[in-house]
Amino acid sequence: MNIAIVGYGKMGHAIEQIAQERNHKIVARIDAEMMLSEKTNLLKKADVAIEFSTPETAVANISACLKAGVRVVSGTTGWLEQLDKIKALCKQQNSAFFYASNFSIGVNIFFELNKQMAKMSQHIDNLTVGVKETHHIHKKDAPSGTAITIAETIAKNSDFDGWTMDSENKKNKIPIQAIRKDDIFGIHEVNFNSAVDKITLRHESLSRRGFAHGAVLAAEFLNGQTGYFGMKDLLGL
Ligand SMILES: NC(=O)c1ccc[n+]([C@@H]2O[C@H](COP(=O)([O-])OP(=O)(O)OC[C@H]3O[C@@H](n4cnc5c(N)ncnc54)[C@H](O)[C@@H]3O)[C@@H](O)[C@H]2O)c1
Repeated sequence: MNIAIVGYGKMGHAIEQIAQERNHKIVARIDAEMMLSEKTNLLKKADVAIEFSTPETAVANISACLKAGVRVVSGTTGWLEQLDKIKALCKQQNSAFFYASNFSIGVNIFFELNKQMAKMSQHIDNLTVGVKETHHIHKKDAPSGTAITIAETIAKNSDFDGWTMDSENKKNKIPIQAIRKDDIFGIHEVNFNSAVDKITLRHESLSRRGFAHGAVLAAEFLNGQTGYFGMKDLLGL
């Protein structure tokens, strides 16, 4: 398969390595300084573009790929308020778009564990739930897209009403604490506490390869498809 890498930073480099290990050809490496006209010419050679750039540039990048007739896998976080616009463009172009706030297969299993825990926790009196995420100091958005997905999954499957970053003003919301430290790839910890129990679910990513592997699997899945997809479609969860 011919792959265009859009956003050639830490994730772009990890994706290149995994894609080549899986015998795919990288036909374009597009980063910030490249002209849009140059991008379009390069993009047209690709079967699928894999986009990991910045919250500010993701929507323009994804739109340019879809308009060039190229299916897109995106993992950029921090722009999801514009997801409906991208879904509409994807439909209009009769193309395919795959989004995941976290491409790690382990994290997607972790999402399911949190969902089950939220459903069962309705039997626990006076339960409090808190999400803590820790990432490297270069991460631009906070809280992480993964922490938001965890909190929204728990809220959807319990009596909690969404999430907040305001630890003082909880009002039945799930507090998310975001910590930026060292070179940490990503730690997510969820605490389900009552007066008599403490249950903790914790996931730690040990390298970027887990995310990159999931993104390349998503690109293989997307080749030849039409529509909007996520990790549940890829993993059948
Ligand atoms: N979904 C996941 O599984 C997952 C995993 C890791 C990181 N991420 C997200 O992916 C994104 C990238 O992460 P990273 O660690 O590679 O960051 P990074 O800063 O190392 O790389 C981002 C790259 O995008 C480039 N860029 C800036 N403007 C651009 C433009 N207009 N067109 C193309 N490229 C442009 C930058 O020059 C940089 O090389 C972040 O939003 C991060 O939160 C998601």
